[in-house]
Amino acid sequence: MSDFLQHKSQEEIEGWLRETDPERLKLLWAAADETRRRHVGDQVHLRGLIEISNYCIRACAYCGLRAGHGSVERYRLTRDEILSCAHKAVGFEYGTVVLQAGEDYGIKRDWLAEIIKTIKKETNLAVTLSLGERPDEDLIEWRTAGADRYLLRFETSDRALYERIHPPAKGQEISDRPAILRRLKQLGYEAGSGVMVGIPGQNYSILARDILLFQDLDLDMIGVGPFIAHPETPLGRGELESAPDGEQVPNTEGMTYKTVALTRLICPEANIPSTTALATINTALGRELGLSRGANIVMPNLTPPQYRALYEIYPAKACIDEAAEDCHACMKGRIRRIGRIPGTGPGGRKKGGIAPQ
Ligand code: 5AD
Ligand code: FES
Repeated sequence: MSDFLQHKSQEEIEGWLRETDPERLKLLWAAADETRRRHVGDQVHLRGLIEISNYCIRACAYCGLRAGHGSVERYRLTRDEILSCAHKAVGFEYGTVVLQAGEDYGIKRDWLAEIIKTIKKETNLAVTLSLGERPDEDLIEWRTAGADRYLLRFETSDRALYERIHPPAKGQEISDRPAILRRLKQLGYEAGSGVMVGIPGQNYSILARDILLFQDLDLDMIGVGPFIAHPETPLGRGELESAPDGEQVPNTEGMTYKTVALTRLICPEANIPSTTALATINTALGRELGLSRGANIVMPNLTPPQYRALYEIYPAKACIDEAAEDCHACMKGRIRRIGRIPGTGPGGRKKGGIAPQ
């Protein structure tokens, strides 16, 4: 294992991303799994995902919830629906709920602050927010209300590619997500980010630099999943140029595992989910393989069934037809079958790693 990423350099990472020899890749999976075990242990933490609204003001070129996609029926959960999902999470012994939505200013600062306070008062749950690029005042008030963590994927470290896939809203400047992530950490949030693997225009050098930016930002959580083309979006329709042949990163399962494994090796202490997008491209084994190649988190869906199909960031998303109970049983089974342990407690990042076990 000693020759793995000795210099943590862009060239080394790029070399591994381009690796195709199955024997060499076996070494990569084993190194990532061993690093995962040593730094974050065998527990797999469960984060109950509540998709609280699918309204969005942004027009991200890859996402099915983008503002321009007129045929989506929009919904926003009520306070009581959110609280009832949170209580379900307690019943399932999850340590965390993730409140996720499009960038929806119908989610008002005070309204959400009251809900966060209530969850923190009535439960022991950690609360993670994933609500897009909100103003500082919102982030401060929600942190004061008790929110523990914030997820905001920077999607790509390459400025030019970022601009192509995130056209700024009218009258707005192009955003600087790494700067927002630094700000979130300053406010006392655990900060999570990530990228998609294989977006058109992403070349190997960009993806290697993405992984180095995870390290530079000292992220607490890092989510990576394959890009899945949504036909109602510019990226899904092939309207944006790919990198030249041999340079374009493919949006495959294998490339996603390589990215997960390298992320674990570069950021040994981070909490890394085996993502729903991975489970979508390999329903049978995607989650398990992610967990065996560096990941230590899963995010079972708690969204009430009648809303699930409407939260279609990409087509054929896993768990669309399941209820919270189904995902709960499914996830715990998958964790146990690969010899791991469902986590207990909030499962926040432990700086310096866990005590030896
Ligand atoms: N394919 C895969 N992942 C996607 N996301 C959004 N659209 C897609 C897609 N078409 C990811 C983005 C976003 C997260 C919530 O879902 O990385 O940050
Ligand atoms: Fe939802 Fe398996 S996690 S059905």
